[in-house]
Amino acid sequence: ANVSDATLLADPAEKIAAVGGAAHPSIPLPIRLYGDTRSNSAGIDLADEQVLARVAGGIAAAAPPAPIAVDAARDVAAAVAAAAKAFPAWAATPVDVRAAALDRLADLLERDCEALMAICVREARKTIPDALGEVREAVDFCRYYAAEARGKFGTLVLPGPTGERNELRLEGRGVFACIAPWNFPLAIFIGQVAAALVAGNSVVAKPAPQTPAIAAAAVRLAYEAGIPADALRLVTGGGEVGDALVRDPRVMGVAFTGSTATARRIARALLDDETRPLVPLIAETGGINAMIVDSTALTEQVVHDVITSAFRSAGQRCSALRLLLVQEDVAERTLAMLKGAMDTLTMGDPADPATDIGPVIDAAAFDRLESYRQSQRPRWVYALPAPDGEYIAPTVIRLGSVAELTQEWFGPILHVVTWRAGDLPATIAAVNALGYGLTMGLHSRIASVATLVTETAHVGNLYINRSMIGAVVGSQPFGGEGRSGTGFKAGGPHYLLRFVHERTVSTDT
Ligand code: NAD
Ligand code: ALA
Repeated sequence: ANVSDATLLADPAEKIAAVGGAAHPSIPLPIRLYGDTRSNSAGIDLADEQVLARVAGGIAAAAPPAPIAVDAARDVAAAVAAAAKAFPAWAATPVDVRAAALDRLADLLERDCEALMAICVREARKTIPDALGEVREAVDFCRYYAAEARGKFGTLVLPGPTGERNELRLEGRGVFACIAPWNFPLAIFIGQVAAALVAGNSVVAKPAPQTPAIAAAAVRLAYEAGIPADALRLVTGGGEVGDALVRDPRVMGVAFTGSTATARRIARALLDDETRPLVPLIAETGGINAMIVDSTALTEQVVHDVITSAFRSAGQRCSALRLLLVQEDVAERTLAMLKGAMDTLTMGDPADPATDIGPVIDAAAFDRLESYRQSQRPRWVYALPAPDGEYIAPTVIRLGSVAELTQEWFGPILHVVTWRAGDLPATIAAVNALGYGLTMGLHSRIASVATLVTETAHVGNLYINRSMIGAVVGSQPFGGEGRSGTGFKAGGPHYLLRFVHERTVSTDT
C-alpha cells in the first residue's frame, strides 16, 4: 500500500510502548464485568503461585466426569413436560426476581471458580488460562443479561392518539431448548440458559456429549441460586437427544451454538411438523475466518496476533483465524517471523500452567484434523513437532487461492494466501464468496484500507490491529452472518429480544 498521502491509524509501535502503561481511555461498563479487565480485582490471579497450586491440586483431585442424576435420552419428553408445566409460574415471576437469580448464579460461579476451572481442564482439555476465561465469561453473561432484562422488560407505554392506553410487553415464549457446543462448555452453555431464563422462558438444556460434567455443575449452581428445578432441566447425550428435543412440539424456541451443518439439521427438524407453531432458531455457527495483512502492518504485532488467533485454545474457537491473507511484498518476512514465534509455543498437558496448547477435544477430532493435515503435507510452510497423544501440531499450509479453503478446520491449522497490491477488493470479495461471516482481522495502518474492509467485508466481528479472539460480553457483542449464524449477537443489547414474544395490549380508557 502507498502510505505517503494516506491518513494513518495509530502508530503500532507507540501502541506497543504504551502497553502496561496508562490505561486506554474508554467508556466504562455500567456493571462490573470480567471482560472489563481493568475492574478484574476480585478474580483469580494466575501469577499467584498459591492460586496455581490450588487449581492444579483441584485438577488432580477432580473425579472423572460424574454428572448429577440427569435425564437420559429416553427422558427428553419428560424434561420438556416438566419445563412446560413450570413455564407459567416462571414467566409470571417478576423480571427483577429472575434477574436477581442470575446475579446470585454469577456470585456462585465466582465462589466455585477454582473447582469449575478444574472440571474444564479435566473434561474439556482447556488450558488453565482458558479455563479461567470460561468461568469469567459465564459470570459476565449472567450479570450482563440480568442488567439487560431489568432495563428492557418493563411495560412500554406507547402513544394513544385514539384515546386507548397502548402497552407493549415482552413475554417469555415457553420452553426453550438450549443446545451448546463443547468448546465453550461453561460460558456458552450458561450464556444461552441465562438469556432464556431471564427472558421468562423455562429451559431444557443439552450440553455437548463431550462436556456433561461442567454443565451439570453449572445447573447445580443455578438451582442453588434459586432457579426452580423444573424451570431448568438438563438432558445429556449427543445428536439423537438434541434431535428429539427440538422435534418436541412443546418446544417454543431453540438457542443453538455449534456447526453450520447441525444448525441446518435443526432448522429442517423445526419445519418438518406442519402442525407445529413457527418457532425461532437462534443459531451461532462456524466460520472460515480470515485476517488481512497489508505492507504497512507492524510484523511483530501481526505475528503476535496470528499466534493468539490461530493457535491458542488449540484453534478450537469459532472465532479463530483460519486464513491469513498477507500482501505479497511482506509475506516472506511475516512467515519467517511466524515460524520463529511458533517455535516458542509449548504443547503439553493442559493441567500444566506452562502449556500453551493442549490436546484437541477427542480422538474423533484428532483423526479428522490429522488426516487433513497429512493430506496437505506437500503444501506445508511449517509444522511444529507434536507430543504423542491427541495433539494436533500447529501447522501453516500455503494455498493458491482463497476459494481452495472450503470448510472450517476446527484446530490449530492455519492457511496462507498472498495477494498483490491493488487486489484487496477482489481478495475481500473472495472471502465473502466463501459464504461464512463470523470474524475477520485486519492489520493495516491506513485508514482508507480499514474503511474499505469495514464497508465491504461480510462479517459479524471485525478486529483491526489486534487479535481476533476473546470477544468481551457487553462491549463486543459476538456472532456471525451468512452461514455463520442468525444473530442477534450473544453478549449484546438485542440478544434477549430473540427469546420473547412481543404482546401489544390496547385498552379503551
Ligand atoms: P456440533 O454442531 O457437532 O454440536 C453442537 C451441539 O449440537 C451438541 O450439543 C450436539 O450434541 C448437538 N447436536 C448435534 N446434532 C444435533 C441435531 N441433529 N439436533 C440437535 N442437536 C444436535 O458442534 P461442536 O463440534 O460441538 O462445536 C464446534 C462447532 O461450533 C464449530 O463449528 C464452531 O465454529 C461452532 N461454534 C460457534 C460459535 C459461535 O458463537 N458462532 C461458538 C462456539 C462454537
Ligand atoms: N467469545 C469467543 C471468542 O470471541 C467465541 O473467542
